[in-house]
Amino acid sequence: MTTTQTGLPLFVLGRDTDPHSERGVDCPGELPAASDPALVARARAAKAALGSRLFILGHHYQRDEVIQFADVTGDSFKLAREAAARPEAEYIVFCGVHFMAESADILTGDAQKVVLPDLAAGCSMADMATFDQVEECWESLEDAGIAEQVVPITYMNSSADIKAFCGRNGGAVCTSSNARRALDWAFERGEKVLFLPDQHLGRNTAVLEMGLSLEDCVVYNPHRPNGGLTDAQLRDAKMILWRGHCSVHGRFTPESVDDVRQRIPGVNVLVHPECRHEVVTKADHVGSTEYIIKMLQEAPAGSSWAIGTELNLVKRLGQDFPDKNVTFLDRAVCYCSTMNRIDLPHLVWALESLVDGQVVNQITVDPDTAHWAEAALNRMLALP
Ligand code: 13P
Ligand code: SF4
Repeated sequence: MTTTQTGLPLFVLGRDTDPHSERGVDCPGELPAASDPALVARARAAKAALGSRLFILGHHYQRDEVIQFADVTGDSFKLAREAAARPEAEYIVFCGVHFMAESADILTGDAQKVVLPDLAAGCSMADMATFDQVEECWESLEDAGIAEQVVPITYMNSSADIKAFCGRNGGAVCTSSNARRALDWAFERGEKVLFLPDQHLGRNTAVLEMGLSLEDCVVYNPHRPNGGLTDAQLRDAKMILWRGHCSVHGRFTPESVDDVRQRIPGVNVLVHPECRHEVVTKADHVGSTEYIIKMLQEAPAGSSWAIGTELNLVKRLGQDFPDKNVTFLDRAVCYCSTMNRIDLPHLVWALESLVDGQVVNQITVDPDTAHWAEAALNRMLALP
């Protein structure tokens, strides 16, 4: 059976399935009932008892029931920086997904403990690039005689061992907030980039922000010999894009952009760069989750926005900006099922366990992987 970086079978990660039906299958302890009316009070009490020993990070795609307890909310870039900036917190509870908690563990001190309230909160995109596959790809680049010209850049949405691979091979991490800067950095050091694991972020950044052409990009398919590419194709390419994508953002279609423009005259279409190139080219604005929030903050009252990103965030934007008309770009797209794994029962269980002196669901990265992944993360954090 195929397993993921959390070691759980893919079906447990709930890819494209209802997360509620699987709730609790992985929890090693006794979860409080979701119907317990005291859950909010219990979370508040546990948080108060832990005081400054605890810091809770919340990604923008988290449920409202969880985000209300976050000490800071942000996109993956902001949360990585926030984790690194809290050396006084003994416990970092990460309300997000597994790769984010791994990065927090790497960027925090040895005595600090990072907790992911539900270990099944993985990311299907991160699971699309395994270490063995990436090593095999690098061998193909060596065989084609180009490995020395290639700088590997991995999106934050990747496992720690992929980040470490990039660190060892002179590369860096990027997020959707700084992909352009990371690519500029890479092209100052090499002639080509291997971009992992999100082909869409890589293509959108290279073509729409840096002026490369679609012909400069090839897609390496890890399930085909030599990635499904000839040596000549690899040698001619500037961007070698890994064949990975987000199962949420990948569902927005160009038709949904046309449709919303028909339904809402004058609407501004704002999408995340994990959306497909055909969608991003039809949109008015593209940017990370922090960028999307900033656009809404600065938008004039009465303006209309169709947003192509995760539904928890879009709903929250609608609540936070009642003077603006906020619509979800495509009604057929749903929540990120793995982000949604972190719910109030899991948060309460994790916090109350900490109060009892028991660290549950701790995320740790082995020292060698952490060393090289940190090198790649620090190259990102040092970008201008
Ligand atoms: P951000 O980099 O915008 O936080 O996005 C993370 C993510 O998981 C998007 O799907
Ligand atoms: Fe992964 Fe997509 Fe979910 Fe982000 S929204 S965590 S990329 S599956």
